[in-house]
Amino acid sequence: MAIVAPLQHKKLEGKVAIITGGASGIGEATAQLFAKHGARIVIADIQDELGQEVAKSIGQESCMYMHCDVADEDQVKALVGRTVQIYGQLDIMLSNAGTLSSCDQVVLDLDMSQLDRLFGVDIRGNVACVKHAARAMVDGRVRGTIVCTASVAARIGGDKRTDYFMAKHAIIGLVKSASKQLGHHGIRVNAVSPFMVVTPLMRMAYNYDKDDQEIEKMYQPLTSLKDVVLEAKHVADAVLFLVSDDAAFLTGHDLVVDGGFTT
Ligand SMILES: NC(=O)c1ccc[n+]([C@@H]2O[C@H](COP(=O)([O-])OP(=O)(O)OC[C@H]3O[C@@H](n4cnc5c(N)ncnc54)[C@H](O)[C@@H]3O)[C@@H](O)[C@H]2O)c1
Repeated sequence: MAIVAPLQHKKLEGKVAIITGGASGIGEATAQLFAKHGARIVIADIQDELGQEVAKSIGQESCMYMHCDVADEDQVKALVGRTVQIYGQLDIMLSNAGTLSSCDQVVLDLDMSQLDRLFGVDIRGNVACVKHAARAMVDGRVRGTIVCTASVAARIGGDKRTDYFMAKHAIIGLVKSASKQLGHHGIRVNAVSPFMVVTPLMRMAYNYDKDDQEIEKMYQPLTSLKDVVLEAKHVADAVLFLVSDDAAFLTGHDLVVDGGFTT
């Protein structure tokens, strides 16, 4: 019988965290990891059934689900307000919800309404999450920490998906500016920038035409690290580092998790 050793040191004991896009992929893996480290978590997403299932699997004593479309600032404000009302404070915001346009978005054929929709989630959504999380932290005199999920797409250009690459670049500008403005409140703001992880978002990027192994095979040769496939849990580990006291002097940083892809 396997014996699972308890964690020697819980890094987030007593902390309250919101994770947007927490119903799936990187957000879900991070919620699971935060819970193991003693945090109470609010999963915020638009996939209500899935979000509730994830919250249930983590356990209602440490996790709850709230519906929130991050493109709507009022919903983000309400999410933060309810979290503080229920748990008394907000220590951590992982602004992670993201989306893709339903077409390739090459420059010569760019659909502006799709671009507006994507910017609403991937840029405005992040701005609203940073703004309202920071306000709650300042009001509550909490030396909190905020992480936005950017991407390696924030460092390079794309053959397609122009709007997504643009939005990810914008997140780095937000993180750097917010880190400068919030530092004197003791609030740290960082980004995490993953390489390719097979998640529903990535499957959508290939119009659900490719199976997971095919996608992995396309990306694996692009990294320097061999025989390691990036998984959501690796990104969750990087986020845990950023929000924990291990990263007490890190702010305005973009932690790239890419096996050397952008090096
Ligand atoms: N998978 C990758 O290869 C990869 C690489 C770099 C960065 N990222 C980024 O990681 C983040 C998480 O993506 P993932 O890969 O885990 O995909 P995913 O599809 O598993 O998760 C994204 C989640 O965001 C939620 N979401 C979408 N629109 C929303 C909205 N308006 N309001 C609230 N929630 C919303 C979705 O319902 C979903 O649960 C995204 O920001 C994505 O851009 C992913």
